[in-house]
Amino acid sequence: MVLLLVACIIDHIDIEVIWRPTNSHDSACAYNNKYRMKQPSCMDGFVETVECKTRLLVPALSLTERVPPKVPAFFNPAAKQSRDLSILAYRAFAPRLKKEKTLADGFTGIGARALRVAVEVPEIEQVFANDANPTAIEAARKSAELNGVSGKCRFSVNEVCKFLMKGNDSEERFGIVDLDPFGTPARHVDCVLRAALDDGLVSITATDTAVLCGVYPEVCLRRYYGRPLNNSYGNETALRLLTSLIALTASRLELAIKPVFSHATMHYLRVYAQVSVSSSEANDVYASIGHVMHCFNCGHRLATAEYDGNARCELCQKKLRVGGQLWTGPLHEKGFVAKMKEQAGKDEKSKKVLDAALDEIDDVPYYFKADEISSKLRTNPHSIPKIIEKLRAAGYKASKTSLNFGAFKTDARLDRIIDVLR
Ligand SMILES: C[S@@+](CC[C@H](N)C(=O)[O-])C[C@H]1O[C@@H](n2cnc3c(N)ncnc32)[C@H](O)[C@@H]1O
Ligand SMILES: [Zn+2]
Repeated sequence: MVLLLVACIIDHIDIEVIWRPTNSHDSACAYNNKYRMKQPSCMDGFVETVECKTRLLVPALSLTERVPPKVPAFFNPAAKQSRDLSILAYRAFAPRLKKEKTLADGFTGIGARALRVAVEVPEIEQVFANDANPTAIEAARKSAELNGVSGKCRFSVNEVCKFLMKGNDSEERFGIVDLDPFGTPARHVDCVLRAALDDGLVSITATDTAVLCGVYPEVCLRRYYGRPLNNSYGNETALRLLTSLIALTASRLELAIKPVFSHATMHYLRVYAQVSVSSSEANDVYASIGHVMHCFNCGHRLATAEYDGNARCELCQKKLRVGGQLWTGPLHEKGFVAKMKEQAGKDEKSKKVLDAALDEIDDVPYYFKADEISSKLRTNPHSIPKIIEKLRAAGYKASKTSLNFGAFKTDARLDRIIDVLR
């Protein structure tokens, strides 16, 4: 009867349930009843896996299914690299935290990222992990016990913005705030920014890549206030659209952001940005917001500050398409990326991304794929180091890009690139 009542209440108020240790099992079971899960143990069907140094209780199916199920709880083992990079970023950022060495993970799922922070980033003193799914939180709480970090972890079942607005025990805000939603973070960017301390860090994921890479341009304009480009460097445009949403939202809240590291790994687009409370810096936001114009006829591209819907390609005279408004400033702070790399040890996959980010020229908001150029030259693709060497020898800026290992960045115009490589 009591269980039934709890189930009905939870069904009615859905995700607005606050986690209470004493009835957490009931809440988890009620959630599972809704999806006809087995009783009495709501951890049935969960298995232990180890990611890096952290033991995690995860739904067994999440380790075998191609698309990890959302019920009874979500865990994606393929997101390990994204979490590995998070650990490196939080370790690099922790010394910048002045007082509250806290992390809030609002969409924690089974707690993979939050628990890894608790185990693998000793500088972070307190981790607050929240999810709307009580079963996921039940698993996270048990995993914290397995790892011996229950003392530094606090768990809650709440709607993400309600969780973030409550703050921690002593402060309204957190040192680091992470948001890792299914799909777009657009609805929640305001409350994430509001929840970060002055000089704190926000890390925000977007996985609505079809929208951000141009399959649904009108949805992109609505969610990110900018137009996507469905072309060979669409993931960079996507990352810059996400960054511009965060920057413009921050400026409305009299905050300024500075991206310290960003990456696009598989369908994960992720931005790490330091937040500062400063209306004067917020006023400067438009210095880093502009557009990328692209010619879908010949492949010419350029960055512009202003929007010109009638602009024509200077190489073939066809109409240019507009990407943005989007972030045209740097995507990385080099010193920060170097600190991340120092911590990377034998993690060669992360080091490859970080090396390219360190090399990346940061005033060109697009890249060129080597095979795009070779098809124009009707040759086999040149190697990226060779292309960079030749462009630099001809007096242009050129570098790798962390967003595509088969591509390069340069300030040379497309026709000049062809001349140099012919
Ligand atoms: C992509 S998963 C998080 C994965 C997790 N960060 C990890 O690395 O394993 C998104 C999570 O958000 C939770 N969620 C969805 N909407 C929510 C909301 N409005 N408030 C709180 N949690 C929510 C889901 O239950 C799910 O666990
Ligand atoms: Zn053209």
